[in-house]
Amino acid sequence: MPVRRRFVIGNWKMFKTTAESLDYARELLKILQPAHTEIGLAIPFTSIAALAQLFSDTPVMVGAQNMHDAEEGAFTGEISALMLQDAGAQFVLLGHSERRHVFGEGNAFINRKVKQAFHAGLLPVVCVGETLEQRESNATEQVLSEQLSQSLQDLSENQVGNLVIAYEPVWAIGTGKTASPEQAESAHAYCRGVIASKWGAMAAQKVSILYGGSVKPDNAGQLMARADIDGLLVGGASLNPKVFNEIVNVCK
Ligand code: PGA
Repeated sequence: MPVRRRFVIGNWKMFKTTAESLDYARELLKILQPAHTEIGLAIPFTSIAALAQLFSDTPVMVGAQNMHDAEEGAFTGEISALMLQDAGAQFVLLGHSERRHVFGEGNAFINRKVKQAFHAGLLPVVCVGETLEQRESNATEQVLSEQLSQSLQDLSENQVGNLVIAYEPVWAIGTGKTASPEQAESAHAYCRGVIASKWGAMAAQKVSILYGGSVKPDNAGQLMARADIDGLLVGGASLNPKVFNEIVNVCK
């Protein structure tokens, strides 16, 4: 049975200048211990090159929070997968709920981005998750199934086995309301089942599924103890290097 990669990834969102990012990175490197998981930081575009350099030869991967789906072209204000890779990014968050709900990104657009990320050698971290309204109307499984099927459409079994999915219930993001370990595990197991039925057992065994939504040092351990939770995507609590490091340390 393939061993799944385990990750703790911070998502800084639209916070930190380059100087602030460098201070954070130096502080984190001072306190970071050998970890049981891979560690990533999804940071603003403007800090990627500087942090990729500072974190080279360390266990910390630098990534981006979004990108465009085209290889290049007349898309004023956008950034391509190749530009991110060139700046030193190793992974990219795609379809984060803020992209889906604030910027109106749909599954077809996200699907083209996933393919473009693979093409440029970036690890795609594909985010899915239901809103409170969808959960309350018992539509969670239908939403997850649709988001996964459409965002990962036409990918090979090998590609799906080699990407990362982040399950982030929208009602738990930035609200202080974490999904209980049982709720998260049940959604993760469901996502793995969708992957198995559409892409095969090998992809389902290999794909890493992270949980995100109000992760803190005091709930990280219980979440990570669940069989289908392979890592954490941490927003607010990743902004402080000490708190982020505590979460990394909890993830045994
Ligand atoms: P949060 O954000 O940890 O602040 O809830 C998670 C995310 O948006 O990835």
